[in-house]
Amino acid sequence: MTHWWKDEIIYQIYPKSFKDSNHDGIGDINGIRSKLDYLADLGITSIWICPVYQSPMIDNGYDISDYYAIDPDYGSVEDMKNLIKEANVRNIKIIMDLVVNHTSDEHEWFQDAINNSDSKYRDYYIFKEADSRPNNWRSVFGGSVWEKVPGESTYYYHTFDKKQPDLNWENAELREEIYRMIRYWLDLGVSGFRVDAITFIKKDLTYKNGESDGVDGLVKCTTMTRNYPGIEVFLNELKEETFKPYDAVTIAEAAGVTYDQLGEYAGEDGFFSMIFDFSYSDLDVASGSEWFNRLEWSLEDLFQKIEISQNYLQEQSWGAPFIENHDQQRAASKYLMEYQDNEEAVKAIALMYFFLRGTAFIYQGQELGMVNVNRQSINEFDDVSSIDQYYRGIDEGFSKEYMLDTLNYRSRDNARVPMQWSDEQYRGFSDVEPWLGVVENYDELNVENQMQDTSSVLNFYKQMIELKKSDYHKILNYGDIEFLERKVEGVLLYRRTYEDKSLLICVNLTNEVKQIELEKTIDEIIFGNLVESKLSDDTLTLYPFAAKIMKEVE
Ligand code: GLC
Ligand code: CA
Repeated sequence: MTHWWKDEIIYQIYPKSFKDSNHDGIGDINGIRSKLDYLADLGITSIWICPVYQSPMIDNGYDISDYYAIDPDYGSVEDMKNLIKEANVRNIKIIMDLVVNHTSDEHEWFQDAINNSDSKYRDYYIFKEADSRPNNWRSVFGGSVWEKVPGESTYYYHTFDKKQPDLNWENAELREEIYRMIRYWLDLGVSGFRVDAITFIKKDLTYKNGESDGVDGLVKCTTMTRNYPGIEVFLNELKEETFKPYDAVTIAEAAGVTYDQLGEYAGEDGFFSMIFDFSYSDLDVASGSEWFNRLEWSLEDLFQKIEISQNYLQEQSWGAPFIENHDQQRAASKYLMEYQDNEEAVKAIALMYFFLRGTAFIYQGQELGMVNVNRQSINEFDDVSSIDQYYRGIDEGFSKEYMLDTLNYRSRDNARVPMQWSDEQYRGFSDVEPWLGVVENYDELNVENQMQDTSSVLNFYKQMIELKKSDYHKILNYGDIEFLERKVEGVLLYRRTYEDKSLLICVNLTNEVKQIELEKTIDEIIFGNLVESKLSDDTLTLYPFAAKIMKEVE
């Protein structure tokens, strides 16, 4: 079945770092509004904005203290309404972030709960009476999931930071409050939500200890709390009460969902429109959040993970292909390493993922080929989770140098630096010092320069988006995907087929010349980066980092 959101091209904005409009070094909603023409020109059709709700910002807005208010740093509800209106005029939809696994500890429900032992809001959260911490589970951002209530033998539960207490989804009244809030934003004109950390809302209610997996004596909480059986009841109710009646798009951050559950989560009648699959973006860490256990990987690992993921998605669901987001390092640095500054190579990884089956996502700055940041000390980091990983890594026996290197490679702050609009001191993001330092030595890599350069990465993204909307739309959007056997190392080949028409996507992710025997005759090369490729009989020669789309003879 077709759905409106299958045709979207979604641009993700990290509001704090996109554009500052009022000279305080912090991006804001009016800043986003001032860049709508840029986004319309790029060709994207929806914007997903990371949380802009009122928040003390210990996790940059993923800690909400009022779901109905916009944080003053970002603007007001009025600004949000204007943004929706002006975006809609340009045929751009607004998707908000929905954070309902937890709130901030400064939310009024939690404030009442913690200050008042007979508050009804205690049951909106997870409070347990105990003389010492109720079990040995470790939170995602480090330390126990339990935090003591001052002056009582009571603890409260948090999956993430201690300033992000988890909501108790077992409480029907709480769930109704959440649904009411979701409908409020949908009524305001939001087209849907990216749904944060949603697989954590159901816990193993026995809260029993697990076998420790670290020197801290704790055990990662995920086995007992992520995608835990029973969650389907909550997710189904959430969908029926909110998203479904509005035909809203929902993209779930749904870590822990296995491939055989894809249909249930994001199939035709699934809980969400689509879910992000992290299998290939997390190919360099042992498990979701333990960055210090860095893994070696090869291009074949990457290709294999993409293929497996796409095959499962095709069977049961719809994909949400991405290579960057606000929790990842920059794709150019991660996938290309020493070739991160090679623009054609950057275009090659773009072409590789953009035409996978699903609704493609672009993260701010990715369209320029922005790279990681080299920080000299832990003090230059802002992200709670990077700081936690640094100290935990040291506790686990890694050296400070190794941990700094790991953070420079993996930290979420790599993606959170100000967007590069121009070569001005603060890159045109702001005229005062930004809340987080810019990427040093990369002042030339910016929107202004790339707009003028027809062969820039930015213009390549524009062309890819145009191609997706062109006469090839049906093939590139709805076409089946099929991966060709990988006989040549470092080359990914996949075919998109719609009715009797097919396109072959060919990507050489190496610095070497590669020769490929073709299965079908090629009609013409319809698109690609500037690297040369040669066709002779049934052999295709791809020069280093060549990436092409070819039309096959019907
Ligand atoms: C998600 C967000 C991340 C945030 C966490 C807690 O993983 O993407 O940025 O820190 O949830 O809300
Ligand atoms: Ca501002």
